[in-house]
Amino acid sequence: MAGEATVSLLRVKGPVEAIAGTVTVPGDKSISHRALILGALARGRTPVSGLLTAEDCINTARALVQMGVEIDNLGQSSVVIDGVGLRGLRSPTGVLDLGNSGTGMRLLMGVVAGQDFAATLTGDESLRQRPMDRIAQPLGQMGIKVAGQGEQCLPPVTVWGGNPRPITYQTPMASAQVKSAVLLAGLNAPGTTTVIEPARSRDHTERMLAALGAQVSVDGLQVSVEGNPDLSGREMVVPGDFSSAAFLLVAALLIPGSEVTVGGILLNSTRTGLLEILGRMGAKLEVSNRRQATGEPVGDITARASQLSATQVGGEVIPRMLDEVPILALAATQAEGQTVIRDAEELRVKESDRLAATAQVLSALGATIQQQPDGLVIDGPTRLQGAEVDSFGDHRIAMMAVVAGLIAEGQSVVTNTQCISTSFPEFADLLRDLGARVDEK
Ligand code: S3P
Repeated sequence: MAGEATVSLLRVKGPVEAIAGTVTVPGDKSISHRALILGALARGRTPVSGLLTAEDCINTARALVQMGVEIDNLGQSSVVIDGVGLRGLRSPTGVLDLGNSGTGMRLLMGVVAGQDFAATLTGDESLRQRPMDRIAQPLGQMGIKVAGQGEQCLPPVTVWGGNPRPITYQTPMASAQVKSAVLLAGLNAPGTTTVIEPARSRDHTERMLAALGAQVSVDGLQVSVEGNPDLSGREMVVPGDFSSAAFLLVAALLIPGSEVTVGGILLNSTRTGLLEILGRMGAKLEVSNRRQATGEPVGDITARASQLSATQVGGEVIPRMLDEVPILALAATQAEGQTVIRDAEELRVKESDRLAATAQVLSALGATIQQQPDGLVIDGPTRLQGAEVDSFGDHRIAMMAVVAGLIAEGQSVVTNTQCISTSFPEFADLLRDLGARVDEK
């Protein structure tokens, strides 16, 4: 569990020399969660390779095991899930602890909604501060009772599973977690369950459901699934996580003389908004070797050190680059002019308040950055100065801060970096493979 891990820190002395090389990153976190969950709900066996072995996904896998699912090689990147069928989960052997993972908790709330038992889900200190009312509301409309703490329905939450009714639900925010929870509950509802989003969020749930045999239709911002599908297990290959690759690619853009290729990366356009924005800023990014892996587009991405210019970011691209806003903000500190990021208020309810955390970390390193209620304003370019900064217990803030330390003048220490293991345990090792000196503790 992230909260129980020993406290660690990473130390870097910048500015580092050029980084170079070709690497691969671990499997996509969003797809790994879905492969575990849908493999469990399908009939028959689902062999998955390339699965992310980080804490978030292991916690989801353990929760499924607690509900009676057999997973061979749990903890490895190649597992075999013995599916129990749509309503075949068993009443769990205790509270389900999802650690740091909002995705694990929210998707499993949707799953439990369609089972014949009640389950209580909890998490670490960060997850216990994240709102679950966004899931409780649609599940309530489906006739499923959910109880949590306070008005925002904070964890621990209890979901009384049963017979969800199909609904048409307009989500107040573009959230793949909300969309997925409703669609997963809809698998055990008679008839058509529809989710309409204000902007397109990542679409891995609908793609994977279709690949396993469900009837899924997508019409603009509207996604529907027919209840009681015949889901059959099948082999799945999880591509590399674009959100993890982003830290290495931006490092290469910002460190003079660098050239880094990250191979086998997910290129789903609901995830790669950062590529478009960096391209507009003048980043030298090249995508090659495009191919498909289990219904998802995949390719290799090469980044070369680049002179960047500022840009304006907002609207529909934000959900397509949600987890990349902190690393984009770092890139913007090195870009010529004023970068404005808007419509990103959802970042305030992530593993940390990512707008506040990004602004604090980058200010401490000497950047000119201001928070807005829904975004950030960054003036560049600024020569960053080494400092001691905290991760706020958030993996994406920790990794952004380490990359910032690589280009800052002098020593930087990033504290509380154990959270990196929730999504990208190999991060520091890969930076070392590329030639950057990153010291632990
Ligand atoms: C995720 C959805 C996003 C993202 C998270 C993973 C998913 O969250 O930030 O890291 O796998 O569905 P929201 O649905 O809250 O936007």
